[in-house]
Amino acid sequence: MLIKTSILLVTHSIASMSTKAASTLPQYSIQHNIQRIISQPTQHKQWPFTQQDLRRADETSDQHWYSQPRFVTHIDDQCIQALSNVYFQVFQDNDSVLDLCSSWISHFPVNQPTLSNVVGLGMNEQELARNPILDSFVVKDLNLEPKLPFEDNSFDKITNAVSVDYLSKPQEIFVEMHRVLKPGGLAIMAWSNRMFPTKVVDMWLKVSEEERVKIVQSYFLLCGAPFVDVVGYQMVTLGTDPLYVVVGRKRTQQEEKEFIIPKVEDDKSSL
Ligand SMILES: C[S@@+](CC[C@H](N)C(=O)[O-])C[C@H]1O[C@@H](n2cnc3c(N)ncnc32)[C@H](O)[C@@H]1O
Repeated sequence: MLIKTSILLVTHSIASMSTKAASTLPQYSIQHNIQRIISQPTQHKQWPFTQQDLRRADETSDQHWYSQPRFVTHIDDQCIQALSNVYFQVFQDNDSVLDLCSSWISHFPVNQPTLSNVVGLGMNEQELARNPILDSFVVKDLNLEPKLPFEDNSFDKITNAVSVDYLSKPQEIFVEMHRVLKPGGLAIMAWSNRMFPTKVVDMWLKVSEEERVKIVQSYFLLCGAPFVDVVGYQMVTLGTDPLYVVVGRKRTQQEEKEFIIPKVEDDKSSL
């Protein structure tokens, strides 16, 4: 079980569930059970994170850390339910899905659309082998080599549950995620407020929960790959653990044809 941090949770009542805001969302994306939308992701135009931001207190091998399987759930049942509900809203029939930082459980909805191919990538073979949703899996340390061992344009969706904070080379990984997504594909990063504190990147421990959403939005927007429709959400959960989600989309082929590259200016502002 992960340790819960004492960082302030910005509370909004379930009654404030934002149907008004939800109606302004991209129509492909999450529409229901949104507690609030976290917008205005970043003032930056270039990657703002330093090596120190991305260091971990424990820089020993992740392979060693994950060598023993952990058949536990890292968030409470209500948070899992809320995450399944997010996936239910974005998955479509015949989607091929890459579950990054996967383990024995992926939280995919029970009554899900029929997925055509689900691939897991994680650190522990025993965990991955026990995951019933996976058609296949890869054991790989992405902090050692931030490359995804898949062809370009392979997946309709990429999921990452309660693990984005463990990625110490997020810029490379987000570029790779964009590469392996099919045109129009979505990447869905989700997390709560629990963690192995010695294994998360340093800046994650120093900011509020809302600022973590902005960090992940910045991963999408400033990694160098042209993700669009990057939206941050706090979802309604009926238990103790909050659920934050950031979704980014790869442009369709049509959008790619129409796209004009904007001029990038010097970024002198601070985080
Ligand atoms: C808190 S667990 C979450 C597992 C699963 N996604 C879930 O929701 O229960 C963190 C996961 O991140 C993955 N992970 C951590 N460091 C990693 C790395 N360097 N490369 C690849 N995966 C990593 C591990 O496989 C581990 O299962």
